Amino acid sequence: MRIILFTGKGGVGKTTVAAASSIKSASLGYKTLVISTDVAHSLADSFAVPLTHEPTAVGPAGLFAAELDAGKELERYWGDIKRRIAALLRDEGLKSTIAGEIAVIPGLDEILSLVKIKKYFDEAQFDVLIIDSAPTGAAMRLLSAPDVNRWYIKNVLSLASGFRRMVRPMIQSLAKWPFTDSALQEKVKNLFERAEALRQIMSNPSITSVRLVLNPDRMAFLETERAFTFFSLYGLSVDALFVNRVLPPEITDPYLDTWKRQQANYRREIAETYDPLPVFEIPLRRQEVTGIDQLQELAQAIYGERDPVKRLSEAQPLHFDLSNGKYTLSLRLAGVHGKDIDLEKRGDELRVQIGTFQRSIILPQYVAGMQPTSASLDGGWLRVVFEE
Ligand SMILES: Nc1ncnc2c1ncn2[C@@H]1O[C@H](COP(=O)(O)OP(=O)(O)OP(=O)(O)O)[C@@H](O)[C@H]1O
Ligand SMILES: [Mg+2]
Repeated sequence: MRIILFTGKGGVGKTTVAAASSIKSASLGYKTLVISTDVAHSLADSFAVPLTHEPTAVGPAGLFAAELDAGKELERYWGDIKRRIAALLRDEGLKSTIAGEIAVIPGLDEILSLVKIKKYFDEAQFDVLIIDSAPTGAAMRLLSAPDVNRWYIKNVLSLASGFRRMVRPMIQSLAKWPFTDSALQEKVKNLFERAEALRQIMSNPSITSVRLVLNPDRMAFLETERAFTFFSLYGLSVDALFVNRVLPPEITDPYLDTWKRQQANYRREIAETYDPLPVFEIPLRRQEVTGIDQLQELAQAIYGERDPVKRLSEAQPLHFDLSNGKYTLSLRLAGVHGKDIDLEKRGDELRVQIGTFQRSIILPQYVAGMQPTSASLDGGWLRVVFEE
């Protein structure tokens, strides 16, 4: 089975590209399920057919779609616990709306969506699972979350100790406290074991490919850099980029001249930054892309004769390796030469300068706390070592 995850900044066209790709996939004979994990679903609007929590046949043979209801999953999995925590807090005089809010671990709904994806993988009823993922920030949390221990410590334990601090003066007996309940701990542990199993599936490049959707503008470019480093850090393979809403050459209105120039610059920068990954450019259409027919047309324009299910590239132009407590960042820099490598780290940004070449890499939190201690350029790869 293949899993293809489309993600990117809000509004760039993730749902549209994921839906179009699913149509192309089904047309090649793959039994395809496209699911959105976003809370604000628009997959149904994109296909212009009603969808539910469960896979529904969409039209083209072999194509199914579902909109995961994170709230429903959350209720099913966490509902009891939430009510117990909330009741406890309410007993101690907290307003019930606030108690209800606090009793949910942030991001848990997304983790539950992940676990649901794992279920589809295990059932193996489909050849391809295409995921229309929540905007980048949320998707990142979603995919880093299965780092069980860290997540558990950060969220569950800190939540618990926060509660305790808050609640301790009020309650005499901590025996009531649900986090000391082994049933709850079991539940959380079980959840994360499943999520961890999914993470392994997702970091296997022959199973999972991540595709980044962006627009040729500054905000999307920066957010994509961040997402790209993040996925690379967690060992997920990004195999292509989709630059959507490119102004086509037939638009000659001078009002858009500056837009076109800026887009041309970002298109070049995207191609250089992600070389040798394939970059698919998608022109801005005359109208919104909705309904099967228009999506089909778009899919043809994007992929032509290519098979969207296959890996679109096996290159890993950026990767992190951990050994002996040191993180090595390897970045492919074909055609860059020079002896003096200047590194400057400001907050979560690493600026690299080699001769006239400049590149800024937005570091994920995990590495942002470390310091670069050495750097070298060999065989077209820049390697930067980070230590605590
Ligand atoms: N190339 C295009 N040409 C014309 N319209 C487009 C194009 N790509 C997307 N659209 C339209 O832009 C709107 C937003 O696209 P879409 O819903 O796919 O974005 P998204 O990234 O999924 O947004 P969100 O972050 O809100 O989920 C939709 O109305 C879609 O039809
Ligand atoms: Mg969307």
